[in-house]
Formats: sequence, C-alpha cells, structure tokens
Amino acid sequence: MGQDAFMDPFSNTVGVFQCKIYLLLLAGACSGLKVAVPSHTIHGIRGQALYLPVHYGFHTPASDIQIIWLFERPHTMPKYLLGSVNKSVVPDLEYQHKFTMMPPNASLLINPLQFTDEGNYIVKVNIQGNGTLSASQKIQVTVDDPVTKPVVQTQPLSGAVEYVGNMTLTCIVEGGTRLIYQWLKNGRPVHTTSTNSFSPQNNTLHIAPVTKEDIGNYSCLVKNPVSKMESDITMPIIYYGPYGLRVNSDKGLKVGEVFTVDIGEAILFDCSADSYPPNTYSWIRRTDNTTYVIKHGPHLEVASEKVAQKTTDYVCCAYNNVTGRQDETHFTVIITSVGLEKLAQKGKSLSPLASITGISLFLIISMCLLLLWKKYQPYKIIRQKLESRPKMEYRKARTFSGHEDALDDFGIYEFVAFPDASGVPRMPRSVPASDSISGQDLHSTIYEVIQHIPAQQQDHPE
Ligand SMILES: *[C@@H]1O[C@H](CO)[C@@H](O)[C@H](O)[C@H]1NC(C)=O
Ligand SMILES: *[C@@H]1O[C@H](CO)[C@@H](O)[C@H](O)[C@H]1NC(C)=O
Ligand SMILES: *[C@@H]1O[C@H](CO)[C@@H](O)[C@H](O)[C@H]1NC(C)=O
Ligand SMILES: *[C@@H]1O[C@H](CO)[C@@H](O)[C@H](O)[C@H]1NC(C)=O
Ligand SMILES: *[C@@H]1O[C@H](CO)[C@@H](O)[C@H](O)[C@H]1NC(C)=O
Ligand SMILES: *[C@@H]1O[C@H](CO)[C@@H](O)[C@H](O)[C@H]1NC(C)=O
Ligand SMILES: *[C@@H]1O[C@H](CO)[C@@H](O)[C@H](O)[C@H]1NC(C)=O
Ligand SMILES: *[C@@H]1O[C@H](CO)[C@@H](O)[C@H](O)[C@H]1NC(C)=O
Repeated sequence: MGQDAFMDPFSNTVGVFQCKIYLLLLAGACSGLKVAVPSHTIHGIRGQALYLPVHYGFHTPASDIQIIWLFERPHTMPKYLLGSVNKSVVPDLEYQHKFTMMPPNASLLINPLQFTDEGNYIVKVNIQGNGTLSASQKIQVTVDDPVTKPVVQTQPLSGAVEYVGNMTLTCIVEGGTRLIYQWLKNGRPVHTTSTNSFSPQNNTLHIAPVTKEDIGNYSCLVKNPVSKMESDITMPIIYYGPYGLRVNSDKGLKVGEVFTVDIGEAILFDCSADSYPPNTYSWIRRTDNTTYVIKHGPHLEVASEKVAQKTTDYVCCAYNNVTGRQDETHFTVIITSVGLEKLAQKGKSLSPLASITGISLFLIISMCLLLLWKKYQPYKIIRQKLESRPKMEYRKARTFSGHEDALDDFGIYEFVAFPDASGVPRMPRSVPASDSISGQDLHSTIYEVIQHIPAQQQDHPE
C-alpha cells in the first residue's frame, strides 16, 4: 500500500469529493465507519512513553469490534503488534510489555520509546454487524533525543583585525539527533554573504575577512523535531578604526576647521574617533613650518594669552595601536580681539591712564568705522559675492582683499560712476570695508555689470 493512500481526509473541504476520497481511502467510511487520527506524524522522545491517539465511530448495529495494530518500516513486511475483539486484547508475545491498548479505545501507548520503534503504525478497525465494515489509518513515528544546550567556540579567541583577520564560530552540541543549526546575530538569522560562509551542516560560521559591521551578539540555535536550544550570546572581538575623527571645543566659535576664540579666554578641545581598542591621541602645534607634539591624550587646553601668534594651526592625531591605522585632523585657532570692553576693563585694573587711552581709542575707532560705513556702503554686494565663494577661496579672498582670484576677474570692465555720501565718484572694485545696507538702485547697477561679462565670454569662446 502506498503512503499516499493515507492522506488526511479532513483536509479536503469540497463535499463532493470528500465521500469519494473516503470510499477510496477509508473503506466503509460512507457506509458508517470512520477512523481518524489527529496527526499523521508524531515525534517522540527516546526513553519516554508515546501515545498514538485514534478515534473511530460507526452508525450500524455491531456485534464484534475488532482493532488491529501493525508496524512497518521502509522495505520490510508489516509486523503484527496486538489486536482486540470487544474488550479482550491479544498481543504479540514478543512485544507484550511495550504496547498497550484499552479497547474499545483504539489508541496505542508505546512505552518506552526506542530508536527501533521508528516507522509507520497502522491501525485497522473491523465492525461485524449486518456485514463487515473496515477502516484503517497510518501514523508515522519518529524518535529523537532532545538537543542539549549548544556552546559557541570562537576562533581566534583573542579577536581579529578588521579587513585582515578571519573569524570562525563553531557550534558544539553534546546531545541530540537530527540537528539543524542556525546562526543568529542580534536575534536575526545570519545569511550567506560575500564574507559569511557556512559549513555544510551549518554548524560553523566563517567570516573572512571580518569588518566592523560583523560586531554583534551571536548565538547558535539548534533544533530537532522534539526540541530547540539556543547558546549563550557571544561577542567576537573585532579591532577597527579610527573612524570619524572629530575635534570639538567647550567654547569658541567653530566655522569649518577654524575656531575663533576671544582674547583672554581659555578653550578646551576634545578629540574623538570611533575605534577599538580606544585610540591614543596626540596633539601637534604648527608654527612657522615647525611642528611640536605638545600633548598626549584626548583633551587639549589652549590659553589664548599664552599663544604668541593670533593664528595657530593644530593637528589632532588618533592612532589605534592594534590595527596600526591612524587618522589626523587639522584645525586653526584664531584669537580675536572682539572684546574691546574686556581690554578696557583689564586696562582699568592696571592704571587709570591706560583705561582712558583705551576708551579714547575705542571712541576714535568707532568714529572711523562710522565714517567708513557711510563712505563704502554701496559695495556690500561685492563683498557678498566674495562670501558666497567656497570656503577655501573665501579665506584666501579675505586675506588678499579678493585680488588673488585673477581668473574670476577676467572679463571686460566698464567704468561705472555713481554718487556716494561725499559726492565723489569712485571705482566699483575698490576695497570694500563696510557691512552696512545700501540703496537698492546702486545694488542692481553693480550686479548687472558683473553678471554681464561672463555671459559675453560664453557667447564668443574663441
Ligand atoms: C462482543 O460483544 C457483543 C455484544 O456487546 C457480543 O454479542 C459478542 O458475542 C461479543 N464478541 C466476542 C468475540 O466476545
Ligand atoms: C483513550 O484513552 C486515553 C487515555 O489512555 C484517553 O485520553 C482518550 O481520551 C481515550 N479516547 C477515547 C476515544 O475514549
Ligand atoms: C442489513 O443490510 C441489508 C442490505 O445491506 C438490509 O436490507 C437489511 O435491512 C439490513 N439489516 C439490518 C438488521 O439492518
Ligand atoms: C582569511 O581567509 C582567507 C580566505 O578565506 C585566506 O586567504 C586568508 O589567508 C585568511 N587569513 C587569515 C589571517 O587566516
Ligand atoms: C548585545 O548584548 C549586550 C548585553 O548582553 C547588550 O547590552 C547589547 O545592547 C547587545 N547588542 C545588540 C546590538 O543587540
Ligand atoms: C544552512 O543555512 C542556510 C541558510 O542559513 C539554509 O538555506 C540551508 O538549508 C542550511 N543547511 C542545512 C544543512 O541546514
Ligand atoms: C616654510 O616652508 C616652505 C617650503 O617648505 C618655504 O618656502 C617657506 O619659506 C617656509 N616658511 C617659513 C616661515 O619658514
Ligand atoms: C596599545 O596601547 C595601550 C595603551 O593605550 C596599551 O595598554 C597596549 O598594550 C597597547 N597595545 C599594543 C599591542 O601595543
């Protein structure tokens, strides 16, 4: 008899075919006898009792109820286990201590279950009444040992360097049959990738080479039909970095790689980068083409009073002594004298004369600034153009009054004269020195001149 003949008849819901299938599969089902099993496959644990439940029912008067259990293994003849008529059981004496049945209950108890008990169990029910009705079912039984808790071994235990080293995780299980291994990283299954590979059994995960992304909580999940167990979490040691080197300060204004600090203030710099093991940091100061290593460690304090120059270049260097890689970032500290009041206050404490001089100087400078502001207010637009250039260019422009960018200045120049506060006409490209707001009409005049010239160049490139 083919195994297909024992398909679960209850999975068919189309009524028309149902009876036909019963006719084919469960002899006599339509004429009143129905034998059913809740599950056609039952997984048992070795050494324990296994219960094979069977239900049957019929609608005809019956004199005798006969139940027979048979056992078959692939490529062998079915073996008789036991049988019953009404309430009397006749076992095969060879197996009488192992199989139990309590008729009219057709369910079979196997105790204790052994590996040799693995196979198909066939139950046949015969009803003797007005004729004989017969029906049978088949249950497949598997026998397994439960999985014991797996242990993950990491090779090399001391860790591996990113992009250089490989790592092998091996899942070791003491007990259990029909084991299926699965690797989990942070609770999710690990898949085969260009760097991840598995052994044929999946009990070994090989990562070659390791990367920072491989850092995580790994565990091994081992399953079989009767149990599943997960190992403790293991975190492989992967050396990487430094990455994302950054310098920050507690105060001071940061514009790109330039920090501006008010005179007299101390500023604390903090250098950080992502790395394992943690980086060692060193700070380098650059003055007049010479460099000095001034400090080791992640923090650097610069007291602006002690800095001889107003502009000083620094380098923070991060070094990972295991990966052997390093990174460095350059930055500039500019000491500004924005706080003139602060200067004045300092002067006061020194001598009254100095403070008077300071205040007088401040007033004179303010007056001069006011005058300049009035004189050069129309040229703000040129300054805006300079400011809109890329950072490096801007810095250059600021240092050399904008006349270094000779290529930008190439073109046909028009002489544009317009009146200002003093009534004296001036060249548009003279040194801008004002941040003030000027008249809209003058703005548009200058803007047009500058826009006009590159357009002409494009029209006639030769
Ligand atoms: C089984 O029981 C029925 C009635 O319950 C009886 O008529 C019949 O003779 C019994 N058969 C055997 C073999 O004892
Ligand atoms: C058969 O016996 C078992 C206990 O051995 C019981 O759990 C089950 O409900 C019984 N089945 C029927 C159909 O009486
Ligand atoms: C037995 O079955 C036959 C036909 O299958 C029927 O004619 C007869 O009435 C049945 N007898 C009883 C007692 O059910
Ligand atoms: C890592 O594995 C690659 C290929 O699997 C191999 O070529 C290389 O030698 C291994 N490196 C180490 C350090 O084991
Ligand atoms: C890994 O496990 C540790 C504790 O065992 C936990 O603190 C950490 O957040 C976990 N990491 C991830 C990525 O789940
Ligand atoms: C190994 O795992 C992969 C996926 O992780 C799976 O597709 C494959 O069937 C598994 N092989 C075995 C033998 O379990
Ligand atoms: C710095 O070095 C460059 C060449 O490396 C040289 O041209 C320049 O004059 C040096 N500047 C100072 C201030 O020493
Ligand atoms: C790396 O530096 C740390 C101190 O920052 C030191 O303890 C460690 O031994 C060094 N390791 C190597 C391989 O040099």
